[in-house]
Amino acid sequence: MSFTPAKWPRSLRSQEWYGGSGRDVIYHRGWLKNQGWPHDMFDGRPVIGILNTWSDLTPCNGHLRELAEKVKAGIYEAGGFPVEVPVFSASENTYRPTAMMFRNLAAMATEEAIRGQPIDGCVLLVGCDKTTPSLMMGAASCDLPTIVVSGGPMLNGYFRGERVGSGTHLWKFSEAVKAGEMTQEEFLEAEASMSRSTGTCNTMGTASTMASMAEALGMALSGNAAIPAVDSRRRVMAQMTGRRIVQMVKDDLKPSDIMTKEAFENAIRTNAAIGGSTNAVVHLLAIAGRVGIDLTLEDWDRCGRDVPTIVNLMPSGKYLMEEFYYAGGLPVVLKRLADAGMLHQSALTVSGGAIGDEIAHVLNHNEDVILPAAQALTQSGGIVVVRGNLAPRGAVLKPSAATPALMQHRGRAVVFEDIDDYKAKIADPDLDIDETCVMVLKNCGPKGYPGMAEVGNMGLPPKLLKKGITDMVRISDARMSGTAYGTVVLHTSPEAAAGGPLAVVRDGDMIELDVANRRLHLDIPDAELEARLAAWTPTHEVAATGYLMLHQTHVEGADTGADLDFLKGCRGAPVGKDSH
Ligand code: FES
Repeated sequence: MSFTPAKWPRSLRSQEWYGGSGRDVIYHRGWLKNQGWPHDMFDGRPVIGILNTWSDLTPCNGHLRELAEKVKAGIYEAGGFPVEVPVFSASENTYRPTAMMFRNLAAMATEEAIRGQPIDGCVLLVGCDKTTPSLMMGAASCDLPTIVVSGGPMLNGYFRGERVGSGTHLWKFSEAVKAGEMTQEEFLEAEASMSRSTGTCNTMGTASTMASMAEALGMALSGNAAIPAVDSRRRVMAQMTGRRIVQMVKDDLKPSDIMTKEAFENAIRTNAAIGGSTNAVVHLLAIAGRVGIDLTLEDWDRCGRDVPTIVNLMPSGKYLMEEFYYAGGLPVVLKRLADAGMLHQSALTVSGGAIGDEIAHVLNHNEDVILPAAQALTQSGGIVVVRGNLAPRGAVLKPSAATPALMQHRGRAVVFEDIDDYKAKIADPDLDIDETCVMVLKNCGPKGYPGMAEVGNMGLPPKLLKKGITDMVRISDARMSGTAYGTVVLHTSPEAAAGGPLAVVRDGDMIELDVANRRLHLDIPDAELEARLAAWTPTHEVAATGYLMLHQTHVEGADTGADLDFLKGCRGAPVGKDSH
């Protein structure tokens, strides 16, 4: 940690719009006064943009306007000028074809909303899966003082006395219906139990994972990740965040000061300890790309390898975010990593201090929720990166969600050319498949789907579910919901639509998955593989217009974060030319 606060007072960026008495200043300032702002609000105090991903169609973030009021209160108290700015909001459960296709668009919109307007510091009000990485990416490219405040998870769901986890039980109940173990009426009854309050998914899905990543990176106040959305302490967190960002602007404490390589290594280890989502891989790679940190898939495998998964939450474990918060939340996990010598304790956070100091005195209040290392869900909880002739640039697997016996497996490929082919065939009683086969799904990567949908945990054939089979090896270039589980190899790179070897797998090929040796192998002769690749021609259509064209033309592979190539890097947020 080596940070020296800037001198205060000094002139801030917003004064280019609001300071003085020239014609353009009067134009900018005078117009804003139609909102009833007193003249002294423009006296050079920090203008804080509260970038809000509220939307009626992003239900996970439906309470963020109320939370914004608490952020504003904190900003006023600290002597700042709060301005709430709506930004692009992509809901995981609503947006088609997949919210991931719009993560980069949201990042671009966020970046330009910051750059083009009189903002000195940013509070990112986020929640649903993509809203956290997209705003962090956009803000990182601007590199103004920035702090994350999450909306928080929903309360626990319960159905007939049992916990119901967002997403996790949707997949479970859906498979139970297909297996004839649950009626459609019971499924509908369960629906009402799944979302009991405002907030994000209550499992350790992607939303809670990314809230945890923001905290582990040092970009949120300590304790931010787990507080339930409706808990009064969530509102306290919002107010304290508002207070803090004003001082961050005065100190000029920026994302590039905080998000160092050490901070990313802390986040990767944290992801292993919490049993976090595989989606964190693409998102952290993309955020790192915006601050110029050289983060790779190798870093994921190296840093996560020896970290036990100690957070007993669905989908890997038993409990939900509400219980995680009552147990002490993420600070307890960070403390456990620190005690095991697995945390860079000197890493700087938005507090202006070291992460190790913030967690020095936290206590675990429930050892069945945050487990002792000896009782970890898995001793090696880090995201595994496998490579081989089927994934030359890597693929990922989440061991805490996988079946141990399937992590060394050789099986016959059953190939689905794309998601429509999968849907057409999967329920066919004549499909030539048994539980030893390897299901292969192509053309679901960043270019192919397009957008890299969360379909990698493709449901098993109903005829095998009825036999009681609950897991099989599945391989694709898709992503998987953070609430999902299974022995699922994801993000296979290069993707099929870019001509990766996945594109030329055929029914009947033998595939070997060897997690211990990090190997994914298509067992055909090299010459045969080369001949198939030479004969391959693209089958997916590239859009001729609109954002879809921009996405398909410029999106990079999952192995480097699936960002748009022209958005990578930090461009800063200088004062632009006045157009008037
Ligand atoms: Fe929005 Fe899970 S779908 S947080």
